[in-house]
Amino acid sequence: MPESENPMRYLSLATALVFAALAGAYLSTLAVPPFVDGDQRLKGDGDIARGRLVFLAADCSSCHASPGQSDRLRLGGGMALASAFGTFRPPNISQDPADGIGAWRISDFANALVGGISPAGEHYYPAFPYTSYTAMTVNDIVDLFAYMRTLPAVSGKAPRHDLSAPLRIRRLVGFWKLAFFNERHQPGIVDGNPLHDRGAYLVEAVAHCAECHSSRNIAGAIKPSTRFAGSIDPEGTGFVPNISSVGLSSWSQEEVTAFLSSGVTPGGYRVGSSMADVIENTQKLPLVDRRAIASYIKALPARQTPKP
Ligand code: HEC
Ligand code: HEC
Repeated sequence: MPESENPMRYLSLATALVFAALAGAYLSTLAVPPFVDGDQRLKGDGDIARGRLVFLAADCSSCHASPGQSDRLRLGGGMALASAFGTFRPPNISQDPADGIGAWRISDFANALVGGISPAGEHYYPAFPYTSYTAMTVNDIVDLFAYMRTLPAVSGKAPRHDLSAPLRIRRLVGFWKLAFFNERHQPGIVDGNPLHDRGAYLVEAVAHCAECHSSRNIAGAIKPSTRFAGSIDPEGTGFVPNISSVGLSSWSQEEVTAFLSSGVTPGGYRVGSSMADVIENTQKLPLVDRRAIASYIKALPARQTPKP
């Protein structure tokens, strides 16, 4: 029997088509945004001063500030963000209505941060740490949006991401989300102590410390057993240190608080790399928030540093 007449061949082709259609249908139902325009939860004017603190704690400018200039409030995007999957280029999120997000509604903004979904209903890559921001409170999102409205418009689009071929297919991120994304979930432990629980929120949701201080699996998702236990720094040749109680066992809580404003460790070492940007922001937060972060960090469970 000639190969073209092999019935099995048609059968497997049909099976593949059915699977592709099911997967397509499944994925298209996934991109349902958590917020709709006019959502009552997003009502409110937004407090600009509070929004500025959210912006600082969330480190937005470290990825979105235009490179090659020192104004961290010019959010033209375009820096090269190295990863195991290629180079991401954070987009322009300035108030430019065409090149940035100046024409966005608050619901668009909330869907990006909480659902990782664009106004056109596409999935964002988790290089944008919505995996942590997903647990941000609606009030913080509304305040952040109000503050960002006061920042300058910067014209010009960021260059495209430079990713390996299959990863250019955004729809695949839908599968990734099914496996690894827990919308609205904050992985931290809360214990009823207001300082500690404020710290849990800041560290896990807003300041996304675990996004850098944990190792990732082959799909680029954080391995829970290495959360806060350190990883290879994709930006360089160094190692992002273990900040669980294994790594910071010799630091007092006060020393962590002081470090978040000085950037100098108890051993007298001034941190560099992407942590210098983090400090640039945490040093401008109210002291009580640095204390909250330190309280939570010092209470993290012990996790052994993974072998690089
Ligand atoms: C670790 C780097 C990083 C940080 C920190 C970060 N972003 Fe992004 N952001 C990205 C990347 C990369 C993308 C592009 C994702 C994609 O193309 O799928 C992005 C996309 C976006 C978008 C979508 C823009 C568009 O044109 O569709 C918005 C809005 C956004 N970020 C806002 C923020 C805000 C607000 C903060 C702070 C709360 C923030 N980002 C922090 C890396 C970052
Ligand atoms: C963008 C990635 C990134 C984020 C986000 C980040 N860190 Fe870091 N952190 C680093 C890197 C890289 C270093 C090592 C810097 C160096 O050695 O110069 C570091 C170093 C540190 C150190 C020093 C540890 C030691 O043993 O010397 C502490 C403490 C720390 N980070 C705490 C935090 C906390 C708390 C947060 C959240 C508020 C945070 N980091 C968020 C990348 C990050």
